[in-house]
Amino acid sequence: MKTFRTALATMALLSSMGIHAQGQVTLRLDEAKTSVSPLLYGMMTEEINFAYEGGLYAQLLRNVSFRDAQNGKRPNPWTPWKPEGAKFWSLTDSTTSKVRIEEKGGYNRANPVAFVWTAQKGDGLLNDGYWGIPVRAGEQYQGAVIVKSNIAGGSEFEVALVSNDGKTVYASTVVKNINDNWQRLDFSFNAPKNLEKATKDVKFRITALKSGEYQLSKVVLFPETFKGRKNGLRKDLMQMMCDMNPKFLRFPGGNYLEGNDFQNRFDWKRTVGNPDERPGHMSPWGYRSTDGLGLLEFLQWAEDCGAEPILGVFAGYVLSTDYLSADFCDNFVQDALDEIEYVIGGADTKWGAQRIKDGHPEPFPLHYVEIGNEDFFDLSGSYPGRYKKFYEAIKAKYPHLQIISTQEAKMIKEQAEETGVDNIKLDVIDEHYYRSTEDMYRAFNQYDSYDRKGPKIFCGEWASREGTPTTNMNAALGDAAWMSAMERNSDIVIAHCYAPLFVNVNKGGMQWESDLIGVDALNAYGSPSYYAQCMYANHVGNKIVPIEVANMPKMAVKDGELSQIYYSATTDTKTGKTYLKLVNGGSTKQNVTIYIKGGKVQKNGKQIILTSANPEDTNSIDNPRNIVPVAKKIKAGKNFKVHLPAYSVNVLTF
Ligand code: AHR
Repeated sequence: MKTFRTALATMALLSSMGIHAQGQVTLRLDEAKTSVSPLLYGMMTEEINFAYEGGLYAQLLRNVSFRDAQNGKRPNPWTPWKPEGAKFWSLTDSTTSKVRIEEKGGYNRANPVAFVWTAQKGDGLLNDGYWGIPVRAGEQYQGAVIVKSNIAGGSEFEVALVSNDGKTVYASTVVKNINDNWQRLDFSFNAPKNLEKATKDVKFRITALKSGEYQLSKVVLFPETFKGRKNGLRKDLMQMMCDMNPKFLRFPGGNYLEGNDFQNRFDWKRTVGNPDERPGHMSPWGYRSTDGLGLLEFLQWAEDCGAEPILGVFAGYVLSTDYLSADFCDNFVQDALDEIEYVIGGADTKWGAQRIKDGHPEPFPLHYVEIGNEDFFDLSGSYPGRYKKFYEAIKAKYPHLQIISTQEAKMIKEQAEETGVDNIKLDVIDEHYYRSTEDMYRAFNQYDSYDRKGPKIFCGEWASREGTPTTNMNAALGDAAWMSAMERNSDIVIAHCYAPLFVNVNKGGMQWESDLIGVDALNAYGSPSYYAQCMYANHVGNKIVPIEVANMPKMAVKDGELSQIYYSATTDTKTGKTYLKLVNGGSTKQNVTIYIKGGKVQKNGKQIILTSANPEDTNSIDNPRNIVPVAKKIKAGKNFKVHLPAYSVNVLTF
């Protein structure tokens, strides 16, 4: 009723100004008053879909510590079990070479396995990488082996990048001075400058230069990394994320924070310091993480993208639904306090000093800490007690931090009442929405009615789940409508981030369908959803512009009809620029009249359009730029017309 009356009032106003609004879609942009949250657009990440191992973490070899045996996992400590070889490692000649795994014969506790290779001179040992290894013209590679050998007089082997058939050697060098003590021996080599075409049909090969026994406990290989960081991240993916202009990075999960069991939670203290001393753990998504990308690397990743961390701390609940109740959580609370100290502590604190020792003198900016992940799945009633314990301990030491609850207000209050936990304080609630595009449209007004006096909202995971492995144009439409819904309400929605961020597109790489960025060993591409993110996050002001709409066109959907156009606008009070976002979710083009109240309007405007003829159209690793944004000039003014193609996301600047 209210909308109808508003529409009528708007149309009356427009016609009184000589604008013929009858039957035309009209948007009236009012004066901006409410502030846009400065952290509104960000990123969320976890180890899923080989996002780090075989993705962002630049290390190229698979099963670096030989801990994944050919014949699976030890069933339990009492069942006799003999590991057979190591997955992703193979021999060039199994008639002359032999391998044996000694589970407790390795370099240290983090690399406990000795991979014992008895070779004839000239034999080779191959690693497949993560569905190949990238070789690009002139690229420099840095590697290391932790190795020993009892061959009399010492030994040496060649390390190389070779074509799958072994005939082409792209880069090679000799690792010398191998003796009968464990040693870490570094090496480097370059791909030829005149390589015609980059390729990933490549294996890493170690070739014995003497006959005898070699023992390996770890082998790593890095290409050039973003900003040249040691133990760093992949250049192309980092650039793609920087292009998203994120203001925060939520990490380390997701389910990856919780782990399937206590042993495999994200135990941050085991992820810092020398990577050779990080034992790694199983990700809940079915594969081992080396934790080479650990807490400091997460923090530097955020920093390198111009973002601040939103830190998720383990809160005593794991995915098997096991938990430690508040009374038994003290160690985890202390771990969280230590973790925060690692992030923001000074040189005079134990963990701040550790961060400095690890190579980052300055504290990182930190304003938000999240207690657990998706504790709305915890129906035991343990969350209010756990949450309160973390909340009070963190606030006592760091009163400036805002705390994020992963149960919504009603649930945590009900559970608190049932379990006798009093005085729960809520700063921010993390909500997660995985929906169809139509459901995103339906949720366009969801936040309009949220209590402005209640806790703030962090939409810490969301996606329109249309298309696989990465999402399609239809998903981008739903995503854009949802981002507009949040942007219009960014007085209460302080931050939001899409999930999941990455998927390795190779067979076996995906655990979660519908992801933002597709990756293989050599290339990466953005889904239409990725481009919608970039368009939105790069065009946002500091004040929300209220919009009134008249004559909203409708589009038919399975069970009725929905509005066809979704919208939001912000203005930058410093530059005077206004950013208007318009989503046309329908199969018909639309001409929209824009009327702007108050202020000056820059006449020369721009319209960036993301569109495709068919909503199922998409991008892929072989066709990465099928759907990309296109910009054109427009004439703006106090009132002007905008053309919205069918199935389009549009960002106007004027
Ligand atoms: O984003 C994929 C998963 O969805 C996350 O790990 C989890 O938090 C959610 O259920």
